[in-house]
Amino acid sequence: MTQRLAINVNGVSHSMEVEPRTLLVQLLREDLSLTGTHVGCDTSQCGACTVLVDGDAVKSCTMLALQADGAAVTTIEGMATDGALHPLQTGFWEKHGLQCGFCTPGMIMTAADLLSRNPDPSDDEIRHAIEGNFCRCTGYQNIVAAIREAARLTATGGTTALPVGGDGEDALPPATEDDQAAPAGPVAEERDADLTDTRR
Ligand code: FES
Ligand code: FES
Repeated sequence: MTQRLAINVNGVSHSMEVEPRTLLVQLLREDLSLTGTHVGCDTSQCGACTVLVDGDAVKSCTMLALQADGAAVTTIEGMATDGALHPLQTGFWEKHGLQCGFCTPGMIMTAADLLSRNPDPSDDEIRHAIEGNFCRCTGYQNIVAAIREAARLTATGGTTALPVGGDGEDALPPATEDDQAAPAGPVAEERDADLTDTRR
């Protein structure tokens, strides 16, 4: 037995039949092919599956799709606009807030919820906001710095936003000491993909 679901995802309206047991993350990944939303645990612990539902960060592995009936959902694929990365995506790029990128979509969506409620959070407030999002490889220092940078970019108009799909070299700021330790080559290329449309 299926039920009809009306949902808006990243600005696109969908009307579809779903089984009552379908999870929101299944709907996004399997029915809508939006695989930037990851599944790391399936038990509401890791935060990799976080999306925005009517602006609130939600772990989509623990929400039924039908519970989002009539809602507006935003995934990582919906963050960039008008050909430019969202300030959070730019912040993660500039501050090297990721390595493998698996946690990154969920981190960014949680941070988007935080910055919508608190545009100038302290480091403690950032750490509190992302405590439900696990990162297995970067440590959290650069993630906090990335979110702080996104807040700064948003407050100043986000003028260093990188183009979607490009290598971003023209838009990158001058190299800093931190950049010397930044991943390069294939790792950097993978990072670029993770910041936009992580299809895994
Ligand atoms: Fe949803 Fe880990 S997959 S919290
Ligand atoms: Fe690899 Fe967070 S889990 S960057």
